Amino acid sequence: MIYLDNHATTQCDPLAAEKMLPWFCEFFANPHSSHTAGQVAAEGIERAIASIASNLNIAADKIVITSGATESNQLAIRGALTHPRQKRRHLVSVASEHPAVLDVLKDLERDGFQVTLVPVIPQGNSDRSTRPDAGIVDMDRLSEAITDDTALVSVMWANNESGAINPMEEISELCLQRDCLLHCDATQAVGRLPVDLQSVKIDLLSATAHKFYGPKGTGFLVIGGSEKRVRLRPQLVGGGQQGGLRSGTMNPAGIIGMSTALSQATENLEDDSTRIRNLRDRLWQRLDSEIDGLILNGSSLNGDLRLSGNLNLQLPDVEGQAWVSATADILFSSGSACSGHDAAPSHVLTALGLQESQARRSVRFGVGRFNSSEQIESAAEQLIASYHQLKKLSA
Ligand SMILES: Cc1ncc(COP(=O)(O)O)c(C=O)c1O
Repeated sequence: MIYLDNHATTQCDPLAAEKMLPWFCEFFANPHSSHTAGQVAAEGIERAIASIASNLNIAADKIVITSGATESNQLAIRGALTHPRQKRRHLVSVASEHPAVLDVLKDLERDGFQVTLVPVIPQGNSDRSTRPDAGIVDMDRLSEAITDDTALVSVMWANNESGAINPMEEISELCLQRDCLLHCDATQAVGRLPVDLQSVKIDLLSATAHKFYGPKGTGFLVIGGSEKRVRLRPQLVGGGQQGGLRSGTMNPAGIIGMSTALSQATENLEDDSTRIRNLRDRLWQRLDSEIDGLILNGSSLNGDLRLSGNLNLQLPDVEGQAWVSATADILFSSGSACSGHDAAPSHVLTALGLQESQARRSVRFGVGRFNSSEQIESAAEQLIASYHQLKKLSA
């Protein structure tokens, strides 16, 4: 099997897995217990959070540990809008956000809040020369959407399907000028792109460990990355852990695994991203040279508007899911993994301007750190062979 689905999840870094092990059977105490064993666990967590904070260039007390980006997004968005002192009722976000943001917004709309979804730059429809910035949020429309009643703007750093990288610095400036909170779902960016929270001021930033070679079920929310005051209503109440913002016994193994994975990813970020980009470009070259009419969805492969491992492709005449099923040894996706059970075409691709039929003929590859060039050559061969077979069958 060749795993090319690194936007859905990543293999756990072996060092992260190793560092987690002692925290299951040896140092298993509850980190919130006051006895010495509890203190050992609490100190392990404290060191791990300090390391995460230093990798993001932010103070450790601004980090709240969660179960992942879904929970972080919930705490950030619902938490900010439903705080008793929140007077504003309007939110702004983008059509291509992950369901972990869009569904929170829908839920808030049902509760009487107003939501404006801003479009992304569409790609050309008929030929293969897509716009170099396709998939990036339309900044003019974003600016127009913000009103005096806007409490929060939520924009993802990088998209999990198109790989589009949004101009977070510019968006941060805009939210500072217009005096509204900025939430960023940075799930696909943390560990893949430089994230320095001193140079980009973001009030609320969500991430999840399993996208940067850490364990599943562990993530964090950074709260208060700018001078703006952030008040959140907790979404999980109970034991009052983490200053009452997120109750529940903390998970030392998960947090230590996440911290190790982030350190590894940060340390190797430049080398990894160059190597991954080269592998991704090679995959594209091979497929493009053997499949007539193949279209690259989203922003340009050159430049810095697309994640280095991302390839989103539109086939001329074969359904994406058929290609995925027919190439069983290559693991890739016909949409985002989170909406994979959903028969509807990807909302990210339709937001890019694709027709439903074009979206259904699209697939996503996510090249990652553990892929080799041999794997890419072998994957390309298998993909090309299965495509031509499918085409013959459908003729
Ligand atoms: C952009 C984005 N946000 C949020 C999530 C949800 O992350 P988790 O399932 O770890 O909560 C994902 C996962 O696919 C994602 O890609």
